[in-house]
Amino acid sequence: MTKFILKSSYTRAHRILHWLIALTFIFILLTVWLRQGWMNRHNIADVVILQAATDHVDMPKDTADKIGRIVRKPMWDWHIYAGYVLLGLYIIRLIVMKIEGPVFSNPFSRNITSKERIKSAIYLIFYICLFLSLFTGAYIKLVGKVYPGVYAAMKGVHVQSLYYSLAFIFLHLAGLVLAEMGTDKGIISRMIHGGRQ
Ligand code: HEM
Ligand code: HEM
Repeated sequence: MTKFILKSSYTRAHRILHWLIALTFIFILLTVWLRQGWMNRHNIADVVILQAATDHVDMPKDTADKIGRIVRKPMWDWHIYAGYVLLGLYIIRLIVMKIEGPVFSNPFSRNITSKERIKSAIYLIFYICLFLSLFTGAYIKLVGKVYPGVYAAMKGVHVQSLYYSLAFIFLHLAGLVLAEMGTDKGIISRMIHGGRQ
């Protein structure tokens, strides 16, 4: 019984942090999506060139590219702000874990079911990948091109962030739907109200 209660309840700090991390993460992905599509600087440049041609204005490609970059900048600044917020939340997450204990099982433990092991492994991999995104992002921004080789490597790793992010969100939501339909009904609402403490 004790085991059931422990498994199904989430502390207030855990819940607040979960939702803040989830929202900030989704916001960061939104900025990436805008950068790659709608607010892509080349797309904006194409629109500028097209409109200039319609109005019989000579618009060099280089100038149109610069306009694209300037239009995108205020949007992209939010990627960086949200990135720093997420970095802060990550540090708070680690501190709260230290105080309140881990929020998922150790995937290497012998005393857990294989379902629990897979779930915990996914969370652990997520936290490691998130650390890499935050570290490489902060490096690109704060240290910049001081060491060109390191900068290129950091950037190369950072831009891969999109792949694990999408994979994690898909697995996470699919896992939650299966849990809701199976043996862990109400798991999502417990992440809102906490469940029995
Ligand atoms: C509507 C969307 C979401 C819902 C309903 C949701 C719900 C939940 C629930 C119920 C748990 C507990 C599962 C368990 O005990 O194993 C959980 C854990 C977790 N969720 Fe979400 N989640 C959502 C979105 C996200 C997003 C976008 C992220 C980050 C990208 C995220 C990251 C995590 C992590 C890392 C855990 C492991 C425990 C922790 O660190 O808090 N979730 N989520
Ligand atoms: C979960 C956290 C993060 C994710 C998922 C993420 C994801 C991404 C992705 C996918 C790109 C490539 C965008 C593209 O080329 O279209 C990117 C670029 C970038 N990110 Fe992040 N990021 C995160 C955190 C951060 C943080 C913490 C910072 C800095 C404080 C940061 C700074 C940057 C910068 C400066 C670029 C542009 C790199 C370039 O010059 O092309 N990111 N990010």
